Amino acid sequence: MKRDEFARRRRQLMRMMGKDAIAILPAAPVRRRNGDTDYPYRQDSDFHFLTGFPEPEAVAVLIPQRAEGDYVIFCRDRDPLRELWDGARAGTDGAVERYGASDAFPIGDIDEILPGLLESRARVYHTMGLHPEFDQRVIGWVNGLRAQAKHGLHTPQEFVALDHLLHDMRLYKSRAELATMRRSAAIAVEAHRRAMRLAAPGVMEYELAAEFMHEFHRHHAEIAYEPIVGGGRNGCILHYRENAAPLLDGDLVLIDAGCELDGYASDITRTFPVNGRYSPAQRALYEVVLEAHGAAIQACVPGNHWNDPHDAAVRTITQGLVSLGLLKGKVAKLIKDAAYRDFFMHRTGHWLGLDVHDVGDYKVGDAWRVLEPGMVLTVEPGIYVAPGNRKVAKEFRGIGIRIEDDVAVTRGAADVLTDALIRHPDDIEAFMAASRAAEPRRSRHA
Ligand code: GLY
Ligand code: MN
Ligand code: MN
Repeated sequence: MKRDEFARRRRQLMRMMGKDAIAILPAAPVRRRNGDTDYPYRQDSDFHFLTGFPEPEAVAVLIPQRAEGDYVIFCRDRDPLRELWDGARAGTDGAVERYGASDAFPIGDIDEILPGLLESRARVYHTMGLHPEFDQRVIGWVNGLRAQAKHGLHTPQEFVALDHLLHDMRLYKSRAELATMRRSAAIAVEAHRRAMRLAAPGVMEYELAAEFMHEFHRHHAEIAYEPIVGGGRNGCILHYRENAAPLLDGDLVLIDAGCELDGYASDITRTFPVNGRYSPAQRALYEVVLEAHGAAIQACVPGNHWNDPHDAAVRTITQGLVSLGLLKGKVAKLIKDAAYRDFFMHRTGHWLGLDVHDVGDYKVGDAWRVLEPGMVLTVEPGIYVAPGNRKVAKEFRGIGIRIEDDVAVTRGAADVLTDALIRHPDDIEAFMAASRAAEPRRSRHA
């Protein structure tokens, strides 16, 4: 992402904040995993969105129309010894020269400097609750000023939730963000292809997960979330993470995996037969999910409401379950009674962006939000038949299917960022047959 893009975002936010306000954002803390080992560092999404600054122990401050510069950053000093152990730091000079700060100070000086920046401002924009220890410090700085107010100092009178403004900005993706999300999607598409090529009876779920890791990392992308590789009935566990079972002949495998590139997530699910051929029961359910997916994507057009794709998916799935005999009764009544929830118990999608479940309100007041160009969401209907569901014919039990794609709303039809990945059962069977013919040693595990 170019430096200009971050500067443009800061300007836009400051325009909305107004000139008597100040915004304070902390970087994400480092999190200890065990012993001397930390979790891989992931910058806070809001902090990243406004700064692009990749280090921990930093605080960004936006001060609209401040004469000496409106963007101050506190960060770690250069330190040759620490840098020898842990890697390079930008330092205060780097924060100005490389990240566009108007001023930068060592993070250790924040208690002395920040109160002075707050002093003449009426409103403090801050996201409370995200980093509780930092909240206490912000409150401490403001209270410190209030204690001196009797000496004639102006002090901030109001804390305002920064997320209302900032998360609305993040909901509308710019051209540069859409380009990054398209690349993130393309990497995840290729990784899913690798898994379809490798799958065979006897292959372990974690072996397919490993294909994703390799494909993501070789593009300098990370996993956006722990990949879900669920063979057979494991596909019915929505957040299955063990990925430890062998894939069995005659089962489906459900894979939900996406990467994070330059901070932006992709999120794709495909469900395909381990042996390369869908059974009649698997195909019948799969085709219902596929039809629901198509109906939901058609509903991702500007002017429609957030819930319209979900309503379309619910209608199609309920109809499909009735025609296959898994639900009995009138479609309208089954929808009203939410009978489909025994088989489809999650929503049809979520916003997608820097966070996999991205920020942005789904409702405005009581009404579902209207879809507008630049919004990106997932479409991910599914059918999951509990292995122990004795109310349905045996051949359907234990089948879990989801089809998930990433969709950008445009002025016209939906732009499916992950469209390059096949999803029709005929295409999947043909693809798997062709890759087996090309590389027969794939079935070594069988
Ligand atoms: N992978 C998380 C989700 O699909 O929402
Ligand atoms: Mn999703
Ligand atoms: Mn997913």
